Amino acid sequence: MKVLVTGSTGQLGGELVRVLAGEGHEIIAPDRRELDLAFPEKVGDAIRAREADWVINCAAYTQVDQAEAEPELAYRVNRDSAAGIARAVSAYGGRMLQVSTDFIFSGKQSCPYTEEDRPDPVNVYGQSKWEGERVVREILPGALILRTAWVYGSRGANFVRTILMAAASREELRVVDDQIGTPSWTADISRTIQALIRGDRQGVYHFTNEGVASWYDFACAITSLGASVGFPVVARRVLPIPSADYPTQAIRPRFSVLDKQKIRTLLPAPIPHWRESLHAMLKELYQCEESS
Ligand SMILES: NC(=O)c1ccc[n+]([C@@H]2O[C@H](COP(=O)([O-])OP(=O)(O)OC[C@H]3O[C@@H](n4cnc5c(N)ncnc54)[C@H](OP(=O)(O)O)[C@@H]3O)[C@@H](O)[C@H]2O)c1
Repeated sequence: MKVLVTGSTGQLGGELVRVLAGEGHEIIAPDRRELDLAFPEKVGDAIRAREADWVINCAAYTQVDQAEAEPELAYRVNRDSAAGIARAVSAYGGRMLQVSTDFIFSGKQSCPYTEEDRPDPVNVYGQSKWEGERVVREILPGALILRTAWVYGSRGANFVRTILMAAASREELRVVDDQIGTPSWTADISRTIQALIRGDRQGVYHFTNEGVASWYDFACAITSLGASVGFPVVARRVLPIPSADYPTQAIRPRFSVLDKQKIRTLLPAPIPHWRESLHAMLKELYQCEESS
């Protein structure tokens, strides 16, 4: 099968290319120079020219705070170019998977969000991703939408690498404890995408690792598991703080746990708990850094 993956220089796209290539698919992974989603009007030709069986759109404007200052660019990338991809895929009869986010929800709910819950984003990034989902499904009703959350992997910048760096040099870390979600490893998300395209699925699905955490819980696990696999950790204390003590440009949902009931039955194996996957990722990252 020919699979086109956008965003292959990012965390998820990079891992997905590795996983799908290992399964013997022909992978096309245009980077930003070959397919710039800031120019939605040019996206169609580039997608049609490749005629991939599946187009998996992992590329996105993901700078949540910066999006508040440049909403036009966020909408061009996350909504208009997603629409351009969907139109092109629809024209030649291909399939499309659009990656989306827990940030389409307001976070005002106190039980996990299902695929049927009403999106109500609280920031520009979340709104641009939600509108991206909507236009993709309008243009291509058979599209597959995969919403995930709190993504980390061994490629690219993410919370795990930030905490590891801070913990190597600072005695005390302060991390917000009133935003609740689920950390999700790119390797697990990629295996899930693999299973969904194998099963030729359509519609909206939620996927994260199992379990629930605050950023504070996540940081504590990174420092303790990180130290156990060999990363240098001088931090002696990780302190919980409220979001009010860590102001950011964009408001973030307080609670964005995703309900995974719908996807669980489709997957070939149980979804790992976030701590188990974090441990596996840290071991992989440590070995990688040791051997380079
Ligand atoms: N990160 C999270 O916590 C999180 C949570 C939930 C959902 N998601 C979703 O998961 C998907 C993957 O996220 P990620 O964490 O892997 O993102 P990431 O590491 O920030 O990577 C983003 C990718 O998009 C590409 N990109 C950005 N602007 C582009 C443009 N104008 N033209 C072409 N490519 C462009 C980047 O290319 P360059 O390398 O050239 O910049 C990079 O390859 C996204 O749909 C995101 O919305 C992420």
